[in-house]
Amino acid sequence: MIISPSLLAADKNNLVGEANKMKEAGASFIHIDIMDGHFVPATTWDEGVVKTLRPRCQMVLDTHLMIENPLASVAKYCKAGSDIVTFHLEACKDEEEAKKVIDLIHSLHVKAGISIKPNTPVEELDPYLASLDLVLVMSVEPGKGGQKFMPSSLDKIAYLSSKKKEKGYLYLLEVDGGINAETGRLVAKAGAEVLVAGSYLYGKEDYKDRLEALAKL
Ligand code: DX5
Ligand code: ZN
Repeated sequence: MIISPSLLAADKNNLVGEANKMKEAGASFIHIDIMDGHFVPATTWDEGVVKTLRPRCQMVLDTHLMIENPLASVAKYCKAGSDIVTFHLEACKDEEEAKKVIDLIHSLHVKAGISIKPNTPVEELDPYLASLDLVLVMSVEPGKGGQKFMPSSLDKIAYLSSKKKEKGYLYLLEVDGGINAETGRLVAKAGAEVLVAGSYLYGKEDYKDRLEALAKL
């Protein structure tokens, strides 16, 4: 299992150190939650955080954009040095726009992901699956860390996992929200390939053991 620790739960004054601490513990991805105060009520960082991390952190920079109008902003997150840029399907006005966002990310040689919120039907992803590098299923309402995992995400993960096998799609299947050893086991069984974990890892004395346990799933 690939683990992508979420910096949302880290010490905001030492993001480089907090990312590298997870790398030393065995994580290969680092998850960067960008919130604009519109798509979700909270605000976090802008592309500056990606620029800061890029030269100082040899991890896969997994940028999760919880922002309105991704077509206007994805380019700066790509150019800042993200390896993967994931935007929300709900933030796009129609299918044509979502496809333009994917094409724009790819034109900048960055991997493209789409995320869906808990109330969005998984079939709405169908038109994009062939061209995505990552699909991110939200297992909580996006906007803050430390929430309870929603089991309704399990059917979505199973659907995306079987579609991938059936059609030979290449996307990584990532899950975000309320992940711990117990919920991690459930999503792994359903077919998840990347687990985002924030509050389960950061601020915990035994974060190395926790990370190791998740990685073994
Ligand atoms: C929530 C963010 C998550 C968050 C997860 O909107 O997208 O990445 O950091 O936090 P935990 O793991 O605490 O649920
Ligand atoms: Zn996230």
